[in-house]
Amino acid sequence: MAENEKYHLSPERQLTDAEKKLIWKKPTTHQVSEEERRISNEIKRNWNRGEMKIANILLEGDAGSGKTQLAKALSANFGLPYTKVTCFADMDKSDIIGAILPVISSERLEKMDPAEQTVWKALYESDGFQSISEILLDALGISQEQAALKMKQLLKRAAENTDGEAIEYRFYPSEIVRAYQKGYLLEIQEPNVIRDAAVLLALNSALELDGSINLPTEIIRRHPDFIAVITTNRSYAGTRPLNEALRDRVQHTEKMDLPTKEIMIERVMAKTGFQDGKMLGILADMIMVLDRTARANAIKGVAGMRSFFYWADAIAGGASAKESLYHKVIYKITTDSEEIKLLEEALKNHGLFASLEEAEIELKKNENLTTP
Ligand SMILES: Nc1ncnc2c1ncn2[C@@H]1O[C@H](COP(=O)(O)OP(=O)(O)O)[C@@H](O)[C@H]1O
Ligand SMILES: [Mg+2]
Repeated sequence: MAENEKYHLSPERQLTDAEKKLIWKKPTTHQVSEEERRISNEIKRNWNRGEMKIANILLEGDAGSGKTQLAKALSANFGLPYTKVTCFADMDKSDIIGAILPVISSERLEKMDPAEQTVWKALYESDGFQSISEILLDALGISQEQAALKMKQLLKRAAENTDGEAIEYRFYPSEIVRAYQKGYLLEIQEPNVIRDAAVLLALNSALELDGSINLPTEIIRRHPDFIAVITTNRSYAGTRPLNEALRDRVQHTEKMDLPTKEIMIERVMAKTGFQDGKMLGILADMIMVLDRTARANAIKGVAGMRSFFYWADAIAGGASAKESLYHKVIYKITTDSEEIKLLEEALKNHGLFASLEEAEIELKKNENLTTP
């Protein structure tokens, strides 16, 4: 068996071409982490062990620690299509299970404004493979939250303008239902923000191992290959913690922290091509000090891997290290002057501004040596 297939869970399974396209392909910059190895082994080991099967995973931790990429890497390892749902505060039950939409006659369709026509046509032309919000996403180029809102407006208007006609209805499953029924790996991003208890309950019961979802049209059983990966940022003051019942459904959890300095530097080198280890070491130290200082002082923003990538890339492109520190890192954490002072103070106390200046002088010197 090929090395990249050693974790495949259902080697016999036939996927359609469209499904095969949903399996994530690891980019060359992807680095396998300890967490990825551990989860892959755990799931594979327990896959055929009945009640001991592990198919609900929680990745909780720092923003930028690699939760989403890990979920995608699992899709690649297991050979399962990857799909995701981004939760939002006002989610309601139709966002979990899907919605029933009327089939509108072509005469009435023609009287609608063009944008609305586009949406309805996209819906009717879909083969039931895509979920409703995904169709709206593609047809209108909007966010998932906007798509959900749009869908509700459409429904309301469609219900208002039936002109007493007898209309036919069609059920459009949600992304969650689609993954659940077809056996995909579903990343559920930030379900802790959901406010409605009934929605949490619906999500929770869907995550039962031998669960089922009651749709208006039929009862859907959980596909044996369905894997749910919940990803959420660790709760800090002011955020809502993950619902206890949902937490309880999870069979394996990883605490995702900002990676070690060495791994941070490796990821940045791989992604940006910038290879100055000394400079990158100082940038990593600064990111870590800023991250700690922000937490210790209850400053809301974060300094993490994403800031690190853009900062290193700016410096590689010739920007001043100190100036870009503000645009790529500090202002992303906060623009409050008092808070900025605290952050600067911390960097100064660690001697990091001085080291940064030194590394920059050296970088410029080396550039002058190598460019004729
Ligand atoms: N294993 C990895 N190897 C290389 N780069 C990674 C890895 N994991 C994450 N990254 C990079 O780090 C950044 C943040 O990762 P992401 O998964 O989006 O974090 P999170 O979902 O925790 O906020 C992305 O640019 C991603 O490509
Ligand atoms: Mg993420």
